[in-house]
Amino acid sequence: MFVVVGVTGGIAAYKTVHLVRALVTNGHEVHVVPTADSLRFVGTTTWEAVSRNPVTTSVHDDVARVRHVALGTSADLVVIAPATANTLAKMAAGIADDLLGVTLLATTAPVVVAPAMHTAMWEHAATRANIATLRRRGVHIVGPADGALTGGDSGPGRMVEPDELVTAALTVAAPRAADLAGLRVAVSTGGTREPIDPVRYLGNRSSGRQGAELALAAAERGATVTLVAAHTDDGVLTSASRHPRIDVVRAYTADAVQAAMTNAATTADVVAMVAAVADFRVAEVSRHKIRKEDGIPRLELVANPDVLAGLVAAQRPGQTVFGFAAETAESDDDLLARGRRKRERKGVDFLAVNRVGEGHGFESSENRVILLDAAGAVVTDVAGSKRAVADAIWDAVVAAR
Ligand code: CTP
Repeated sequence: MFVVVGVTGGIAAYKTVHLVRALVTNGHEVHVVPTADSLRFVGTTTWEAVSRNPVTTSVHDDVARVRHVALGTSADLVVIAPATANTLAKMAAGIADDLLGVTLLATTAPVVVAPAMHTAMWEHAATRANIATLRRRGVHIVGPADGALTGGDSGPGRMVEPDELVTAALTVAAPRAADLAGLRVAVSTGGTREPIDPVRYLGNRSSGRQGAELALAAAERGATVTLVAAHTDDGVLTSASRHPRIDVVRAYTADAVQAAMTNAATTADVVAMVAAVADFRVAEVSRHKIRKEDGIPRLELVANPDVLAGLVAAQRPGQTVFGFAAETAESDDDLLARGRRKRERKGVDFLAVNRVGEGHGFESSENRVILLDAAGAVVTDVAGSKRAVADAIWDAVVAAR
């Protein structure tokens, strides 16, 4: 596992040396991200020696490899030990003024925090509120323990012992059951780009992130996955393309997505159409760049194939087919009504409905999806990271199969 250990400015940092050593000894790849202040307690040399990896505190080091984002996106687990009151406040507010702050914003991995501070600070209303905020966001708080504090007094505020923290952290990050083992899954993702001329296209704002997370979640749960990817944002396919059980097939237009998905569906147990397929393309693609001097062009559009409809028509017994519907809606009731009508029209086993626009769905790592089954009933209503949404969808598919 790729573990990021954040160290902040408290005396308990010396205990974190044991934590890092234990993780490395257990075979994990550990990257330590200390705050500048924490280096007064334990220095870079120690962290590099115990983690066996280079250590920096600045977002300006190793910029070529975009280290500040790479650490967060590569992490399978983030542990902050010790976490000072100041760090908890910064985390709650999403402040990213150093490498640790940026890493925390860039990650979707589970985050485990071991607070350490004086009892008075731990019990302060501000700290209580910050802890409540972090818990609501799914951050796991371990400790603090009750006992002797550095000042000679005692009370809650001691960082939990390294062994206890290792156990808690590894439990949180435990891989999910391989409940999709033996299944073949075909997922499409991204937005198609329908050419107008050699330089222009009709496109949409889909980033491909939700489909990539669906593919990754399936592969991590044991499935063998074909991920048919139209245009996706930078970095979205990085983890999927490295996964040994995911085969990434590029398909940039509706026709190409149709060909690739039809092919993958012939052997797939589960077919998921997440791609934003353009409904229309230009009737005739210009072989030359359209120039201003030719006047204002009039583009004649023709319908693209409905890929999902074709997959449903060719559905084999025992095969599960589901679609994604991106909808703009006035209200949740309106969203549900539209979703139910679309589920009916498409004839899919499941339709995942999500509300797009006004900060929802597109270009965001968060999503909210309502999953409807073949009877139009709401199976799951889930909000959270696109990975959490993906896992909830697979939970429902597994339960139905
Ligand atoms: N879809 C498809 N082929 C298309 C258009 C959409 O396979 N030409 C699939 C999408 O991948 C998605 C589902 O159909 O799984 C719903 O897509 P959506 O755009 O919401 O539905 P449309 O049928 O295009 O309906 P409309 O745009 O009119 O709401």
